Amino acid sequence: SSPYKIAVLAGDGIGPEVMAQARHVLAKISEKFGPSFEFTEQLVGGAAIDAVGKALPAETLAACEASDAILFGSVGGPKWETLPPNEQPERGALLPLRKHFGLFANLRPSICYPSLTHASPVKEELIAGGFDVLCVRELTGGLYFGQPKFRGEKDGEMTAIDTMIYKKSEIVRIAHVAFKAAQGRRKQLTSIDKANVLENGILWRATVEEVAKDYPDVKLSHLYVDNAAMQLIKQPRSFDVVLCENLFGDILSDEMAMITGSLGMLASASLGQAKGDGLYFGLFEPSGGSAPDIAGKGIANPIAQILSTALLLRFSLGLEKEAAAIEAAVRKVIDDGLRTGDIYSGAEGTRKVNTAEIGSAIVAAI
Ligand code: NAD
Ligand code: IPM
Ligand code: MN
Repeated sequence: SSPYKIAVLAGDGIGPEVMAQARHVLAKISEKFGPSFEFTEQLVGGAAIDAVGKALPAETLAACEASDAILFGSVGGPKWETLPPNEQPERGALLPLRKHFGLFANLRPSICYPSLTHASPVKEELIAGGFDVLCVRELTGGLYFGQPKFRGEKDGEMTAIDTMIYKKSEIVRIAHVAFKAAQGRRKQLTSIDKANVLENGILWRATVEEVAKDYPDVKLSHLYVDNAAMQLIKQPRSFDVVLCENLFGDILSDEMAMITGSLGMLASASLGQAKGDGLYFGLFEPSGGSAPDIAGKGIANPIAQILSTALLLRFSLGLEKEAAAIEAAVRKVIDDGLRTGDIYSGAEGTRKVNTAEIGSAIVAAI
């Protein structure tokens, strides 16, 4: 059969460092299970600005269009923060990619492995029974993309405007994703909004209630976003699937990641509508960023990138066995006690290693 086509966009900061480990993992998957991959490495973000003057070169976009999926690292950093906002890596490349491919459904699975509970900042007894929450984040609407967007002089002083806008159809389609995910898990859905203040929140809550009628087996509850941020820390195990609009999901998913021990553990899948074959075109990236504070040192945690690669195999290529093998290998290496600095706490039986060492251990465990 013809090889699967993967566009590889490593980007900036720790992006290339963790991507290298994901590539080793894919090489091992080919060797062990047989599928062949055709990779096209493309410039994106600050690296693309430096090389060709644009965060999302036409060639990169064309390569993504010609691929089955995009494996993305991370973009951005201090070097490009003074450029005009629309030319910066985030708004010039990552957001346009999400919008261009209609990737409205962002899945962020936060799992705290039992042997990692000590690395979490929440009390061990709160997650000792396991922490496994799926954040379903709407990704192409809300404040990120709403018009008007403006910053300039207005009524005699500097003024900034961002517009929060959701069409009912946008809420309906992401709600279906969340309910379906809940059906495959513990059948509990918590929908997040700010219905006590925002018109968007009122529409969000009413729409999710309506969609719920199609899923009588799922227990739906609603939380205001401020309370949700608090409950996540107070009783993390009370959540199964959490449904959020774009910005709330951005914020709460970092919090969920930290409950598992580190942002460096949190993978993500950004998906569009299912294709006829039940698979999805998608962009797969760690939820964290380019981590300028540790970039270039070879100490970043590659697990979010590696688990994102597993999600790519599952959702875009239908390679479930291979995806599960990667996830099992990550779990084994964590259980064996290997830790990058972000998840190392000096606990007995654990060892601090660098990016390449933990990457090699995961490859060996596959
Ligand atoms: P960040 O996610 O890069 O870093 C936040 C903290 O988490 C840092 O202390 C960092 O060291 C740590 N961290 C993140 N990933 C890690 C990993 N794999 N291993 C170990 N530690 C890790 O957030 P920031 O510092 O606010 O943003 C830096 C840049 O990244 C900004 O330009 C931001 O816009 C961009 N960003 C990009 C993406 C993306 O490309 N998907 C996502 C988030 C932020
Ligand atoms: C994320 C990131 C992005 C977002 C930024 C870099 C645009 O924080 O994927 O969580 O806000 O969506
Ligand atoms: Mn974020």
